Amino acid sequence: MCVPRQGYVYLAQGIKSVVSVPVLASNRINDPSTGEEILRNGAADMVTMARGLLADPDLPNKAQEGKSHLIYHCVACNQGCFDSIFQGRPATCLVNPIAGREAEFKSRPAPEPKKVLVIGGGPAGMKAACTASERGHNVTLIEKEDRLGGQLLLNRLIPGREEMETVAVDLINNLKAGKLEIILGKEADERLIGEISPDAVVVATGARPVLPDIPGVDGQNVVQAWDLLDGRAGTGEKVVIVGGNAVGLETALYLANQGTLSAGALHFLMANRAESIETLTELLNKGIKEVTVVEMTKKAGQDIGLTTRWTVTGELKRLGVQVMTETRAVGITPEGLEIERKGSIVLLASDSIVIAAGSRSENALADKLKDLSAEILVVGDAKTPRNALEAIREGFEAALSL
Ligand SMILES: Cc1cc2nc3c(=O)[nH]c(=O)nc-3n(C[C@H](O)[C@H](O)[C@H](O)COP(=O)(O)OP(=O)(O)OC[C@H]3O[C@@H](n4cnc5c(N)ncnc54)[C@H](O)[C@@H]3O)c2cc1C
Ligand SMILES: Cc1cc2nc3c(=O)[nH]c(=O)nc-3n(C[C@H](O)[C@H](O)[C@H](O)COP(=O)(O)O)c2cc1C
Ligand code: SF4
Repeated sequence: MCVPRQGYVYLAQGIKSVVSVPVLASNRINDPSTGEEILRNGAADMVTMARGLLADPDLPNKAQEGKSHLIYHCVACNQGCFDSIFQGRPATCLVNPIAGREAEFKSRPAPEPKKVLVIGGGPAGMKAACTASERGHNVTLIEKEDRLGGQLLLNRLIPGREEMETVAVDLINNLKAGKLEIILGKEADERLIGEISPDAVVVATGARPVLPDIPGVDGQNVVQAWDLLDGRAGTGEKVVIVGGNAVGLETALYLANQGTLSAGALHFLMANRAESIETLTELLNKGIKEVTVVEMTKKAGQDIGLTTRWTVTGELKRLGVQVMTETRAVGITPEGLEIERKGSIVLLASDSIVIAAGSRSENALADKLKDLSAEILVVGDAKTPRNALEAIREGFEAALSL
């Protein structure tokens, strides 16, 4: 995902300038307009799309029919495709749950239209609502925030992960093109659900971050990674992150990147030879925050896919983030984080402690609906906190079962 769209087109362009046979540009071309631009610029004679067509086999048809806004784009997460292949499993796709299972799943019109209520506008709820509506059900989607997207939106500020937001944008575009009702800024509760009186309820209420039981965790210097990534909180200069899984490491990337040269500034300074390459490299790699991640297991980033983990590790190293494994957070004081490492307890002096200790299902509503005479389906993180691939797959399968 850290490879920008069209990132390797310069190679095709270089080859094209020295050969007389047709040249195809490849990699990270995930939208017809990107392909058109490459061809228009004469950088290549043709373009290829591999993952782009796994994500949406209908991409060419949608482009031809003027419905490019309904394309489900490949976001280069590699979670469904390369990560699966490298582990000897068949390829599938985060945004296209049918990929690789085309014979198993067919989206057929519903035998009879039902009144379907979907609670939660994260990826699981949006996919469920979209699919149920496409099958002919009468769907209402309720989201308590004033925006759709759920946790997907927390990737927006993480360098190299911004494309994850495209997953939300594509689902929103498809939802808006449908005939369903979307209610934003309203928290679904038993009373509201009773009033709507649905035939089926899809509970896609997601998860919320865990606050670990560490003495001092309620201190002023403690902040949840989710709040930071949502732009609702900030940190001091010296930061320790508790938890070295994907969210902890990506939060470290976000913080360590602050104060480094932006792509625009780098381009400007380099094009005008304003600074030496050595100075630019230093400015690119050194931010304003000193970031440490503590992880209690032997290895950080265990929940990151094989094809992505090494890029995250490389970026953390480049940005000078210190990752301490087999290190347990045991206490928080105004001076910093107390850690237990190799049998001794020491203080990691810091201004802010960021918590990235996993998430817990937000499914209290499902229990309260047990007496309702409607079919109840719990999907995504509300069932068990996992990832967007599972959330989208479960939302899709739930809608197919209705
Ligand atoms: C920083 C970060 C990065 C991540 N990166 C990745 C990644 O790269 N790849 C990946 O696969 N996964 C990633 N994940 C995990 C992924 O985002 C989640 O697994 C996924 O969003 C779960 O989808 P969901 O729809 O089940 O829940 P959520 O995304 O949590 O959505 C639930 C929605 O329900 C709403 N809601 C809750 N209760 C109510 C109610 N009573 N009424 C109305 N609305 C309600 C919430 O406001 C929310 O919008 C990441 C998570 C985080 C935090
Ligand atoms: C499921 C899958 C299988 C692939 N198999 C091969 C292969 O056998 N040989 C090869 O050279 N490239 C293979 N690729 C790589 C693609 O040809 C392409 O170079 C790569 O996915 C980058 O382009 P994209 O961004 O359009 O996906 C495969 C890609 C995917 C997603
Ligand atoms: S799993 Fe991710 S990278 Fe692979 S095709 Fe789907 S969106 Fe693209």
